[in-house]
Order: sequence, then C-alpha cells, then structure tokens
Amino acid sequence: MTSERSHDSLPRHVAIVMDGNGRWARKRFMPRGMGHRAGVDALVKVVQATAARGIPYLTVFAFSSENWKRPEEEVSGLMSLLLVALSKHLARLSADGVRVRVIGDLDSVSERIHHALREAEQATAHNSRLTLTVAFNYGGRWDIVQACRRAMRAGVAPEALDEATLSRHMAMADTPDPDLFIRTGGEVRLSNFLLWQSAYAELYFTDCLWPDFDDGELDRALRDYAGRERRFGDVGASGQGDAAVGLGESPVEQGDR
Ligand code: IPE
Ligand code: IPE
Ligand code: MG
Repeated sequence: MTSERSHDSLPRHVAIVMDGNGRWARKRFMPRGMGHRAGVDALVKVVQATAARGIPYLTVFAFSSENWKRPEEEVSGLMSLLLVALSKHLARLSADGVRVRVIGDLDSVSERIHHALREAEQATAHNSRLTLTVAFNYGGRWDIVQACRRAMRAGVAPEALDEATLSRHMAMADTPDPDLFIRTGGEVRLSNFLLWQSAYAELYFTDCLWPDFDDGELDRALRDYAGRERRFGDVGASGQGDAAVGLGESPVEQGDR
C-alpha cells in the first residue's frame, strides 16, 4: 500500500478493457490503426493519472488470445505499435515510478515482441509507485488452464487443489484481485479478461471510446466505484439491522439454518 492512498473508497487495483479504438478511427474516416495509436496516447495519460491518484495497480487488456482472428494487417500493425510504444514511452513511465509487468502466452508471440516485453519488465523492475500489468496474448481461460498445468507440474495432488492453491499459480498471483473492472467502448461483456481474478470486482461499463478516455473519465469511474457497497456475499451494512428488527421476531431453530 502506498502512502498516497488516502481512503478505502479508492480501489487498489483497476483493470481496464481498452475497447473502441477501431470505432474511434472510423468515426473520423481514418484507418483502424490510427485508433490504436490514439489508444496508446490515452493509455500513457491514464497510467499517469492512476499513479497520481495513489492507486498502486493498473492492469490493461492490450491484445487478447482471440485478437489473432483479426486481419493479418491489423495484427501486424498492433505488434509494431507495441514496439514503437515501448521505445517512445517506457523511459518516461519508468522515471515516473511505473513498473511494467506482462501477463499472457508469450511463447506464441514473435521472438522480438517476447524480448521487448521481458526487457520492459527488467528495466522497470525496481519501480514501485504503480505496477502496470499489460495483458498481451492473454485470455482468462488460458490463464486458468496454465495455472492448472503449473499446479500439476509442481506435484499438487488433485485432492490438495483448492482455490488458494490455484490462485497461487494464476497470472498476477502476487497482486491483489482487481477491485474495479472498467470496459470502455460500449460493449457489456468481459471478452475473456481476468475471469478468475475478477470474481468480486465491481464492473463499470462506459460508452466512451478508449482514445477519448481521460482523467475526467477515470474520475467518473472512481466516483461510481466509491458509491458501491461491496458485500462479498455477506448482507452488508444496510442489511445488518434486519436480524434485530424483523427477522428476530420469528425464532429460527438452529437446525433450520
Ligand atoms: C480495442 O479496440 C483494442 C484491441 C482489441 C487491440 P478495438 O480494435 O477492438 O476497437 P473496436 O471495438 O473495433 O472499436
Ligand atoms: C477486448 O476487445 C480485447 C482488448 C481490448 C484487447 P475486443 O474488441 O477484442 O472484444 P470483442 O471482440 O468485442 O468481444
Ligand atoms: Mg473491440
């Protein structure tokens, strides 16, 4: 926890599905690639805004395990953009105290991309203000399967496998689960992002297209989050009075519970 964090209504971990780049470009009669480029600029600003608000963890969906289905030209454009974005922005982000980590199946991406991502991790490993986790060639189902495989390889017996054990083998095992899950671009779905880790995340969907997402949009999401009551299956603060007032009048036998 950082000293910048002032109150509990602030999430510790924000996860974002950065969607809407293509539509942002189309609205301007530009090729989709221009939308992705504008998306990188939005990301850099949102990373800085997140750090400035004292939120220690930000995880972003950059390329999904299903995005390979896109036209070859778009996929290769996204790969090149990743390299350009790292060379353009990494030094600045690192100077701002950002640690970069990557989750996803890097065995199936090109050697160049794999190397650049691992290098970004190493170059920023000493930073601690904000951990920016980039999900690249990531899928929530892939993550669950790879966690099972790693647990099996580690010799975990079937009867010893429980939620805590599997959690330790998931991507981002050393990071708290996301508190706030944001999706831009108007679609109301998870698209295979952080399925396991978001079990109790607060979901926030906005029509704002990712390249338009800025400090003000982030603050809007944070305000919405601050107004949520997280119950985690319990009755929560507003339900606490019920037992004493109403339900308490009709006695419940211990065995009926
Ligand atoms: C999200 O924007 C970025 C990636 C998937 C890499 P899209 O490219 O999905 O934009 P839309 O949804 O087509 O507008
Ligand atoms: C999710 O967006 C993936 C990323 C933002 C990287 P998509 O645009 O790929 O999701 P769908 O296809 O609309 O579900
Ligand atoms: Mg999309």
